[in-house]
Amino acid sequence: MKTIIKTHKIFPKIDGILHGGDYNPDQWLDRPDILKEDIRLMKKAGINCVTLGVFSWSSYERREDEFDFSWLKKVMDDLYENGIYTILATPSGSKPAWLDKKYPDAIRVDENGIKAHHGMRENHCMSSPNVERRIRVIDRKLAENFADHPGLLMWHISNEYTGYCYCDNCKQEFRRYLSKRFDGDIEKLNHAWWATFWSHTYNDFDEIDPPFMNGERSILGQNLEWRRFNTWNVCRSMKMEIDTLREVRADIPVTTNFMCLFEDFDYRVLAKELDYTSWDAYPFLHNDYESLSDTLYDNAFNHVLYACMKKDRPFMLMESAPGLVNWSPYNKYKRPGIHALMSFQALSCGSDTVQYFQIRKGRGCSEQFHGALIDHLGTDDTRIFKEVEDLGQKLLRVKNIQGSVRKSEVAVIFEWDVRWAVKDSWALSNETKNYDRTVMDSWKELAKMGMDPDIISSDDDFSEYKMIVAPMLYLLHDGVGEKIKEYVEGGGQFIATYFTGYVDKDTLCYLGGFPGQGLSEVFGIISEEIDTLYPKDSNEITFVKDGRKALVKDYQELLRVKDAKVLATYEQDYLKGTAAVTAKEHGKGNAWYVGCRLSPEDMHHIFDMTLDAAGIKGRSIPEGVEYHIRYADDKKYEFYLNMNAESVTIENVSGWELLSDKECNGSVTLQKYEIAVVDDSV
Ligand code: GLA
Ligand code: ZN
Repeated sequence: MKTIIKTHKIFPKIDGILHGGDYNPDQWLDRPDILKEDIRLMKKAGINCVTLGVFSWSSYERREDEFDFSWLKKVMDDLYENGIYTILATPSGSKPAWLDKKYPDAIRVDENGIKAHHGMRENHCMSSPNVERRIRVIDRKLAENFADHPGLLMWHISNEYTGYCYCDNCKQEFRRYLSKRFDGDIEKLNHAWWATFWSHTYNDFDEIDPPFMNGERSILGQNLEWRRFNTWNVCRSMKMEIDTLREVRADIPVTTNFMCLFEDFDYRVLAKELDYTSWDAYPFLHNDYESLSDTLYDNAFNHVLYACMKKDRPFMLMESAPGLVNWSPYNKYKRPGIHALMSFQALSCGSDTVQYFQIRKGRGCSEQFHGALIDHLGTDDTRIFKEVEDLGQKLLRVKNIQGSVRKSEVAVIFEWDVRWAVKDSWALSNETKNYDRTVMDSWKELAKMGMDPDIISSDDDFSEYKMIVAPMLYLLHDGVGEKIKEYVEGGGQFIATYFTGYVDKDTLCYLGGFPGQGLSEVFGIISEEIDTLYPKDSNEITFVKDGRKALVKDYQELLRVKDAKVLATYEQDYLKGTAAVTAKEHGKGNAWYVGCRLSPEDMHHIFDMTLDAAGIKGRSIPEGVEYHIRYADDKKYEFYLNMNAESVTIENVSGWELLSDKECNGSVTLQKYEIAVVDDSV
């Protein structure tokens, strides 16, 4: 059955792509001339929205309960009169000095038990009742004053939630959380945590501390639960803010800005509470250790990850740098053409916005040299300004893509519980486990084959995919084994690798053979040993069918083959002649198992086989060209992004190219860093 993809407009008030960025007028209140000029410059650059108030708490509430929103009202009014909308942040990302002074429990304690001093940002204790109360007050005031402002588009909750706190309040919350999680039964916890190990049996939840650096770190179930607790706690605080705003007016959409593959919180849990996902993209461009295309593919992985958290709607590129960032190890400017290329990369993956940090550079403090649309020079003829202005024009040409979304037949599984558990596991090598990299490499390889793969979790719906790849799915949530079995029986192609299904959701090992939860039946193998190689070691495998050889690095498993077909065998070492890659027909589908770490190119060879079995035709996309598709109603928009410094011709492209407003018939040639957006339903 054909799925109908409905157009989903995030911002009905904006006709086309939202083009905006963080703007800090409260830093310039003594310069009305500059605030006026900013509006002229924004309009010139095609900016139709700004994000205000991200760090404005002390500008709204200079002293406790003394509020002043007059400046914000004036700024929002002026912007609106000039056609510029506002995304308004709640200011909890940075707390005023008076608050820390009066309510010291607002300040975090670190993993060594050391209390911080007032300062910096994104560091309030999520369990402090005082902080919660003060956030409720300021958020409610904001909502009462601005929820009905015609220029308001959305609430931006806090900013880049970051880090854990180990204070007494958090300790108590953790204990309450654990008690709930284990039904108030300490024996359930002892069992799940294998607590007899090193005499760690607990009698009461009150005996449990967070995993302090110099405290308990050997109970892996506890470490994992601490991560889950912190996700739950930040989510609770975020929900408290959302509820406060919604008590005043319920129909303003909300988001919070995520960070590139950030590890501290399971973003999927947070995403469930949001209307839209958004993230801040700051890849280390033009570095000296990888190609531009490699850097940008990793960036695209993030885009797709966040897009797939809410698949029926676009996501938002909340921040990106015009020009440069100022906090990376080496702060290199975006080379000419890269700004548009990267902005279109976000759109190609399903974003309906291109937003910046920041509109104007501040004069002082640690971000004074961070890239911005408006430089200290203050003019509209800087290289960066002109590139943004040019992009503004381009965005107008693709306005019809607004509201279209992604759709793919292929998915890759990537999840936080697995990231955390793999990282915390005491085996393999901390130098080479590289869960994230391994998933990203598989995703990238499939993307290069024209698959535009989704990124999902094992809890997501599998039914729309013909093929699912799950690299290193070490930890299995309850029911995942059964789900994979049904998926394969129903005709799916499921590809697992070494280090799959070793532990349950509490990190307890499965008994009776890995992968657990019945998966050794599905795959027809048991993994008996996982062997960790030193960096200079390697092995080799040979594919039975065509004699093709492939290099093994880092990890190799000794597989016991039950009823799977052996696709490749090891060449060397004590594994010589044993199975390295297998497949088992199970019901209408196949369960593939790759028992060793192969290079992306060799995974490509395996994907050729699995895609073939899935009946999916790969597409040959030239090296260094990224390809993504967006759908809406009866429309299909194909994006080609040339990451190469040379021109390239792409075959089999037909339709209307929106940027040049010309038809392409059979092929399209892109110059260095050029982009094509082809409406092929025309
Ligand atoms: C983050 C923050 C912004 C700003 C930028 C600088 O994304 O959200 O406030 O500090 O980094 O790159
Ligand atoms: Zn705390």
